[in-house]
Amino acid sequence: MSANYSTPPRWAFVTGASAGIGAAFARELAARGCNLVLTARRTDRLEALAAELMERHATRCECVAADLTDPAAPTALCEEIARRGVAIDILINNAGYGLPGHFTRPAWQAHADFIQVMMTAPCELVYKLLPGMQQRGFGRVANIASLAGHIPGSAGHTLYGASKAFLIKFSQSLALENTSTGVNVCAVCPGFTYSEFHDVTGTRGVVSKMPNWMWQSAADVAREGLDATDRGEIVRVTGRVNRGIKRLFKLLPDRLALRLIRGQAKNFRNQEG
Ligand SMILES: NC(=O)c1ccc[n+]([C@@H]2O[C@H](COP(=O)([O-])OP(=O)(O)OC[C@H]3O[C@@H](n4cnc5c(N)ncnc54)[C@H](OP(=O)(O)O)[C@@H]3O)[C@@H](O)[C@H]2O)c1
Repeated sequence: MSANYSTPPRWAFVTGASAGIGAAFARELAARGCNLVLTARRTDRLEALAAELMERHATRCECVAADLTDPAAPTALCEEIARRGVAIDILINNAGYGLPGHFTRPAWQAHADFIQVMMTAPCELVYKLLPGMQQRGFGRVANIASLAGHIPGSAGHTLYGASKAFLIKFSQSLALENTSTGVNVCAVCPGFTYSEFHDVTGTRGVVSKMPNWMWQSAADVAREGLDATDRGEIVRVTGRVNRGIKRLFKLLPDRLALRLIRGQAKNFRNQEG
């Protein structure tokens, strides 16, 4: 049975809640009785989602716009949450995107922004929100990583798999540090998921050739990810197909795994330099 977050009342903070997997986490948390703080850059989207959740589940929702490429954003977000009198029990570090092409093609600032959103901001949000969870003896942190963090890196989107592998290792260490604090930490690792991700990264044309059975809905990822975090799983690859792919790559010698990725990556990456 799924956890109920209404008694005692819990507050969750979801980054990247304006679309896709983040919006699905917000809907799933609200259905489980949780109050929400939602953040992303598109305020109109956040407010529409907040209105929907307040109407459907009588959820209390706060929206705080932020651009996570701004190194000041995590501090500003935490200060604004505190100013509104909210203590966060559940953190969903979800905001993210891909940066297509070869490593030296974009200006360095694009990589610096990517590292800020994908690694620095999630770590800083945990750093700032974890002590409160530990003091209250209850917390949930779900870092949305990816199957890409478990398989070899491919040409193109050079830092993407690396950033997700980083989140997986970070989550493992953090989970083990918190075994007796009441705080569960989980790296939630989806594979191909229906969302706006591939439109934003410009890979929709490439990935639309992948068969339907390789895809999950954002709602399924959120449900499975939340259940796993509640159960105390430390790494959750969502979906049976994705778990099969992860297992296959673990069995292969590195040389063969790299060869397989080199052959397959044209199906899911824009590889032009
Ligand atoms: N879809 C997949 O196949 C897939 C697979 C594995 C892992 N993931 C991971 O799942 C997470 C969510 O992706 P998604 O598939 O739901 O993509 P999505 O539909 O494009 O949603 C991405 C979310 O991140 C937010 N975001 C992006 N850049 C931001 C920034 N600079 N500042 C603040 N918020 C920002 C977006 O909000 P605004 O644009 O409004 O700011 C949006 O809410 C990502 O970490 C992604 O790497 C996705």
